[in-house]
Amino acid sequence: MPETEVSNPIFARLFDRFAAKDKGRGEDALRRELLAGLSGRVIEVGPGNGINFEHFPSTVDELLAVEPEPYLRRAAEETARRLDLEIRVVAGTAEAIPAEDESVDAVVVAGVLCSVPDQDAALREFRRVLRPGGELRFYEHVRSRRPGFARYQDATALVWPRLMGGCRPNLDTLGTIERSGFRVSSCRGFGFPDGARIYPVAPRILGVARVE
Ligand SMILES: C[S@@+](CC[C@H](N)C(=O)[O-])C[C@H]1O[C@@H](n2cnc3c(N)ncnc32)[C@H](O)[C@@H]1O
Repeated sequence: MPETEVSNPIFARLFDRFAAKDKGRGEDALRRELLAGLSGRVIEVGPGNGINFEHFPSTVDELLAVEPEPYLRRAAEETARRLDLEIRVVAGTAEAIPAEDESVDAVVVAGVLCSVPDQDAALREFRRVLRPGGELRFYEHVRSRRPGFARYQDATALVWPRLMGGCRPNLDTLGTIERSGFRVSSCRGFGFPDGARIYPVAPRILGVARVE
């Protein structure tokens, strides 16, 4: 049986606070950009407390949210109820998604690929559940292209994952997506929040990749 649960009780309880802070800094616009134009059957992997739910367009017919952390899964269920949205929230991980092969039009991840223990396995699993031509929508923080800042991220990576639920600040996630049988059709890089100087997870990418 594949693992469906990841327990990060302390991080899970702090998540609301971080998320609210970033919302106040204008992150909602990025989340809307991430989800714009989606339709059909969609899976969001690692939705946390359901922070993206309100931004999914109404053209999405079916949304399955796969969240391995029990506290966050309950919070995501509560968000779906509060928004009166029909979203199925289930246990599972990026590496073992409870869905049939080639069954969905899009997979969405936001701030998740930094935390999965094996990015290659997760991306293989995304390709398995996506229909041919299906989309991976991603909004992730990544390793900086500036060597000095990347070295700083490497140093913070010695402690950051222990405080932040396994999140690694120094991964070349775009490179891994490109090497995993996806064709990146759009991607932009930027810093968030604006003007952050020492925040190790400020360098970010937002884009779309398609199954080749
Ligand atoms: C930083 S939070 C991001 C939450 C939300 N997606 C957002 O946009 O803010 C990381 C999320 O990834 C989830 N996660 C951690 N390991 C995972 C795994 N192996 N598979 C799927 N999700 C995972 C965590 O439980 C948490 O919900």
